[in-house]
Parts: sequence; C-alpha cells; structure tokens
Amino acid sequence: MDAVRRHRLDHIAEHVEAQYRRSAVQINWDPVFTARYRWEHTQRVAHYGDLIAKAEGHDRELCMAACLLHDIAYFHCGEEEDWREHGRIGAELSRPVLADAGFSREESDTIRYAIAIHVDGKAGFSHPPTPVADVVSDADNVDRFSAVRVVLWCMTERDDLQKMAIMLGQRVERLRTYRERSPLKTATGQRLFAEQVDLQIAFFEAIIGDAAITRLPWREKEPLLADELVPDLRDRAAR
Ligand SMILES: [Fe+2]
Ligand SMILES: [Fe+2]
Repeated sequence: MDAVRRHRLDHIAEHVEAQYRRSAVQINWDPVFTARYRWEHTQRVAHYGDLIAKAEGHDRELCMAACLLHDIAYFHCGEEEDWREHGRIGAELSRPVLADAGFSREESDTIRYAIAIHVDGKAGFSHPPTPVADVVSDADNVDRFSAVRVVLWCMTERDDLQKMAIMLGQRVERLRTYRERSPLKTATGQRLFAEQVDLQIAFFEAIIGDAAITRLPWREKEPLLADELVPDLRDRAAR
C-alpha cells in the first residue's frame, strides 16, 4: 500500500481511537460491551475487511476505512437505545473526517454508504450497491461470531453453570440455523463465518457437556434442564 493511502488510513484510525478514548470516560457503557470492546472489535473488523477485500479483489483502502468507521456512532451515543440507527448516524458523523483525510467526494460516498447500510440494509440516501458495503457487512459479521464473543457469551451467566448451559443450548440451536443459511455476501466472508460458527458450536457444546457431568458420579442423576436441551450430551456424561 502506498504512503498516501497509508496516511489516509492512519488519519481515520487516529480519529476513531480518539473518539473511543473520549467516549470511554464520557459515556456510561454496558459492563460487557464496553468502549474498549467496541474499539477492539473495530480493529478486528478492519483486519477481516482487509482479508476479504484482498481475497475478493476489492479496494483494500476503502474497505478498511469503512470498517474503521462502521461503528463510530457508538462512540457518540454509547450502546444507544436506538441501535438500528447507528449505521446511518455513523455515515453522517464520518463525513468531516473523510474530507479531512483527503478522500474525494465519490470515495467518501462509497465509504459512507457501506457504514450507513451495515445494520439493517437501509442507507437513508440513494446510492447503488457496492462491493465495499458487502465487505464491511461480512467483516462485521465474521467478528460478531469470534472467539472473543464466546468469552462474552459465557460471562453473562458465569456464576451459574446450569443456567449458562441452558442459555448456550439455545444459542447453539440458533447458530445451527445461521450455519445452514450462510447469510454472508462474499465467498471469503462465508468461509471465515463458517469457521467462526463451527468453533462457537464446538466450544458451547463442550461447556454444555461440562455442565452435564458437574455432579457426584455415584449418586443417582437428577434431571438437569441442560440435558433436556441437548439430549445426546446425556450419553457423554456416562462415558
Ligand atoms: Fe454496527
Ligand atoms: Fe460492528
């Protein structure tokens, strides 16, 4: 990547990081989805955006710039109530920083369209579909099913393994439907997404398995709610 492109990306990244640092002290964040989580997610989405853009032959700089800015609205509104609007708000907030970084009007519109549309498919302004928008959407969805998210899922019920197993059993059912539907837009995104979902399913099933054997082995087994949700794991406890 040439020096000009690198410089433009540095400008965007420094802006987003500054917004993250400001919002970390100014906004009341969710205890799990913190400002820091959002900034870390942003960096990984840029990483996946680059990976997908490279593999699919799309403009890496535009994709990475859009990935860096895709959740910028959170740093202004926190995990706001009106979650559906954060793409369209982010597209507006991105306008001045894209101009400052030196992106042309056309490049800026391409990036802002990808940001605007990434939540619910509605940009709020007219623009033709672009590969950059597909890359941002895929990169975001790949990271939303990452190993880091496994930890966050488990944290929500960390004091009660049985409850956690029930919650994860429901999550596994949902993950299987995502896996079948394969909702991503690019072939590379699809492959990365399948890897992430398979990893989550395997790990969650292992936790459910642990819950099933969390009892004194010589005592008669009490029926556990977690067993009912995933019947084949009952055999695993006997092994
Ligand atoms: Fe988002
Ligand atoms: Fe995101």
